Amino acid sequence: MIRKKLIAGNWKMNKTSSEAADLVSAIVAQVGKANDVDVVVCPPFTSVESVGQTLDGSSVKLGAQNMHPERNGAFTGEISAEMLRSIYVRYVILGHSERRALFGETDAFINQKVLSALKAELKPILCVGESLEEREAGSTLDVVKNQLEGGLVGVEESNATDVVIAYEPVWAIGTGKVATSEQAQEVHAFIRKLLGERFTPAIGNKVRILYGGSMKPGNAPELLAQADIDGGLIGGAALEARSFVQLVEAAQAAN
Ligand code: PGA
Repeated sequence: MIRKKLIAGNWKMNKTSSEAADLVSAIVAQVGKANDVDVVVCPPFTSVESVGQTLDGSSVKLGAQNMHPERNGAFTGEISAEMLRSIYVRYVILGHSERRALFGETDAFINQKVLSALKAELKPILCVGESLEEREAGSTLDVVKNQLEGGLVGVEESNATDVVIAYEPVWAIGTGKVATSEQAQEVHAFIRKLLGERFTPAIGNKVRILYGGSMKPGNAPELLAQADIDGGLIGGAALEARSFVQLVEAAQAAN
C-alpha cells in the first residue's frame, strides 16, 4: 500500500463541548484502535483541546478547521499553528471552500497558512475545488490547477508528503449531490499528475488526495475504489458516530 487511506471529519460550526465529547467518545469506542486507516477529527476550536484529551491513547488523530499564518500578535479572534501544536493538533484543514467563499481567503493567504502549518509540523489538508458555474464553463481543471499551485508555492520536496490534498467540488458540498466516481477520479488523477510535475513523480505517488462533498456510507465504497482517491473529508456524515464509523469501515474495506 503506497498510500494509507485517511478519513477526516470536518465538524464545521457544529457541536457544543458536551456534544463534541459524546461524539468523540463514540468514535474512539468503535475505531479508536484502527491502524490500517488514518482517522482524523476536526472539531470547532472550543472543543479541540477536550476532544484531544479523549483521543489520547487512541489511534484517532486531532485536527483543526483553520488557523492564521502568523505566529502571534494583534490578530483578534485568530489562532496560530503553534497554539494548535501545543494542544497536540496534528492536521489542519486549509482553504476550505467555505473559507474561500464566505471569508474571502485567497490562494496567496492560504499558501502562507500552508507554509506556517508545515513549519509547525502540522499536516495541512489543502482544499481545492470548482464551483458549479466553473464546472459548467469547462474550467474545472484550470481552477483546480491554480488553487493547487497557488497553495503550494514555496513548499519544499522534503515536506511535500506531509501535505494532504482534498478535492471538494463546491457544488457537491452539503448538497447531497455527489460527484460521480468518474468525475472525481478524473480530477484526482489530474491533481496527482500536477503534484508529480511540481515535486517528483515519486512524491506525487505518495501524497494523499481525499474526496469531499456529500460523501456518505452509501457512495463511499465506489469513490474509495478509484485509483487516486485516498480517503474522504467528511462534513455532514461526520456529525454522527454511526455514519462516520461506517465511512472508516468503507476505507478499511477498500484497502
Ligand atoms: P459534506 O461536507 O460532506 O457535508 O458535503 C464536506 C466538506 O465540506 O468538507
